[in-house]
Amino acid sequence: MTEIEAIKDRHSVRSYKPDKIEAEKIAMLNDKIKELNEVGNLHLQLIEDAGNTYNKLLNRVTGLGSAPSVIACVGHDDETLDQRIGYYGEKLVLFAQSIGLNTCWAGTFNKKNIGAEVRDGESLVISIAIGYGNDKGKPHRSKNPEQVIEAKGDRPYWFNKGVEMALLAPTAINQQKFVIRLNNDESIDFIDKGGILSQVDLGIVKCHFEIGAERKV
Ligand SMILES: Cc1cc2nc3c(=O)[nH]c(=O)nc-3n(C[C@H](O)[C@H](O)[C@H](O)COP(=O)(O)O)c2cc1C
Repeated sequence: MTEIEAIKDRHSVRSYKPDKIEAEKIAMLNDKIKELNEVGNLHLQLIEDAGNTYNKLLNRVTGLGSAPSVIACVGHDDETLDQRIGYYGEKLVLFAQSIGLNTCWAGTFNKKNIGAEVRDGESLVISIAIGYGNDKGKPHRSKNPEQVIEAKGDRPYWFNKGVEMALLAPTAINQQKFVIRLNNDESIDFIDKGGILSQVDLGIVKCHFEIGAERKV
């Protein structure tokens, strides 16, 4: 499965089968996490037994049922942390999708129960529920390209493909509070219009844009 196919297949899944993830896939996820932690200066951790990370009270509030496993998104704390978590965390989400797993980014979770290792100078930003879904989720309601683009003149094909993939990105409460600006020199700016966890969103959006545009920006 290509990354584009994974983007199109992925939807947040909030109801999971109790089945554990097989050892072979755990190993694949851990290899991917190792690679992403190195490039992103992060400390993402796959916690096989999610325990009470998503407890009953939270389930009632968010509708996210208990997933068998969880990824704790931890990293060296500086002003780029949230965006790095979003960018590299989404690479992991798309990888998980490509090996048949389902996920849901979750800002609402029990930080004490997750059992993550958080070293000095690090912060735990967010969680990602992971496992086999009872369903595959469904496409989210989306803004149209004109609502998120700032560009003068002609828009190159790669830019439009990038925007198309960015609009399929998960964002907190589906807020899609970002603008993608195409500058005259064809450089790109991602503009944060605020909102809850919007810097994590922006990292995720950048990840999707680059995959669609087939270039680093
Ligand atoms: C940063 C972030 C935080 C999120 N937090 C939660 C959450 O706490 N609970 C939940 O059920 N979904 C959460 N989501 C999932 C979004 O609601 C979901 O991505 C959005 O509605 C779009 O749907 P889709 O992911 O199926 O495309 C979060 C997503 C992101 C990116």
